[in-house]
Amino acid sequence: MLIRSVTFAATAVTAFLGLVEGKLVHVNDRNFTDVVINSGKPTLVDFYADWCRHCAKLMPTIEKVAALYDGDDSIQFVKVNGDKDGKVAARKYVDIGYPTVKFFFGKKMDPVEFDGSRDAESLNNFVQLILKTRVKNIDIVDPKLYQSTATKVDDVTFDSHINGSKDSIVLFTESGSTSDSLFQDVWEKVITAYANENDVQFLLVNIKDEMSSGIVDRFKDVISSYGEPTVLVFKKTDTESPKVYSGKKKDAAFVINFINGSLLLFRLPNGRLRNKAGRLLNYEPVIKKLIINVDKVSEKEAYEKFVKDLADSPIGSLDDLSMLEYYDKVIAAILEGRKSHYENELKRISTILDTDVAHINAKSLDSFEKRYNILKAIFG
Ligand SMILES: *[C@@H]1O[C@H](CO)[C@@H](O)[C@H](O)[C@H]1NC(C)=O
Ligand SMILES: *[C@@H]1O[C@H](CO)[C@@H](O)[C@H](O)[C@H]1NC(C)=O
Ligand SMILES: *[C@@H]1O[C@H](CO)[C@@H](O)[C@H](O)[C@H]1NC(C)=O
Repeated sequence: MLIRSVTFAATAVTAFLGLVEGKLVHVNDRNFTDVVINSGKPTLVDFYADWCRHCAKLMPTIEKVAALYDGDDSIQFVKVNGDKDGKVAARKYVDIGYPTVKFFFGKKMDPVEFDGSRDAESLNNFVQLILKTRVKNIDIVDPKLYQSTATKVDDVTFDSHINGSKDSIVLFTESGSTSDSLFQDVWEKVITAYANENDVQFLLVNIKDEMSSGIVDRFKDVISSYGEPTVLVFKKTDTESPKVYSGKKKDAAFVINFINGSLLLFRLPNGRLRNKAGRLLNYEPVIKKLIINVDKVSEKEAYEKFVKDLADSPIGSLDDLSMLEYYDKVIAAILEGRKSHYENELKRISTILDTDVAHINAKSLDSFEKRYNILKAIFG
C-alpha cells in the first residue's frame, strides 16, 4: 500500500455504493477489543446512538467513504451503537457526544478524533492523511498538529534545535486531546505575532510520540501529565532550564506577554511593536539634556558633560538593545548641530505610520516603529 491517490468524486461513489455494503461493519462490546484494538489495523470507528439525528445524517457519509476502500484489507471501518450493544466502548471513547468518529491504531497509541467538517471529502482527507503518514513511517499525529507552523522536534532533533542561535518557544502537546485542540488557535496566533522576530523559533513536541519520550521524561516535572498543552521558553543555548508558562490558555495576549517578559521582546498580539521597542529609557533624559547644552555651551563641553551623565545612567535591564547604532547617529547629529535631520525623520515616519502600514513590508515596519519610538521620546 503506497501513498494512496483515492480521488473522491461523489458520482463515482454513488455508482459504487450498491456493490460495497459490508465495508462498514457493526461491532459490539463483545468483539470491539478484538476487532478494533487487537487487530492492530488502522480502524475508523463511528460511535452513534439511535436517537441522534446528526448520527443518522453522518452514517451515509461514512458508508460512502468506507466504500472507497472496499477491497483494501489494511483499513477497517466500524460502527458502534453507544445506546445498545456498544455502551461500554462508547463510555470509554466518546468524550463529548454523538456522533464521535475516531481513528484507532491498535494498542500502540491513543485514538485520534476526527472533528473536521462532516462531509465525505473532509472525512476521506482525514483518512488519507492518516494512512499516508503511516505509510511514510512518520508517527501519526493529529492533522491539526501536523499543520502547525511550528517545527516538530523529537528526541533526536530537540537539542540541536534548542542549542543554537535562537531562543525557542516549545509547545509540549498531546495529539488529539480536546484541550490541545482548543489551544491550537491561540498557539498559531502567538506564532504569527512573532513572525517578524528573527531570533525566535517555535517548536512542537508531541508528548504521545514514542520518539519524544526522552525529552518528555527530561521535562516531566514541568509538563502537565493531564494532556494540557505546556509552553516552555528556552533561552538560546540553555537546554535545561526553561521558563514554564502557567497562565491562561484562552487568549494569545497572555502567552505573548509571558514570552515578551521571558525573552525581552516587545510584540503586541497583532505583530506590531509596542512603544518601548528600540528604546533605552535611561538614556533619554541624558540626550534631552545634551540638546539643551549644545545650544548653551561649546560642543566640547556639551560632549564631556554628556559622557559623564551617560556613565551615571546605565542601560536598564528591560531596555531594547537593538538600536544602539541608531542612537549613536542621532547623538552625533545633535552634537554636530544637525538635529533637524532627525526631527524631520520623526515627522516623515509619523506620517507613514499614520497612513499606509498595510503596504509596508514587515521588516521595514519594525524599523519604522523603533525609530519612531526613539525619536518621539527625544524630540516629540
Ligand atoms: C460483532 O458481534 C456482533 C454481534 O454478535 C455481530 O453482529 C458483528 O458482526 C460482529 N462484528 C464483527 C466485525 O465480527
Ligand atoms: C550546546 O552547544 C555547546 C557549544 O556549541 C556545547 O558545548 C554543548 O555541549 C551543547 N549542549 C548540548 C546539550 O547539546
Ligand atoms: C509584551 O506584550 C504585552 C502585550 O501583548 C504587553 O502588555 C507587555 O508589556 C509586553 N512585555 C514587554 C516586556 O514588552
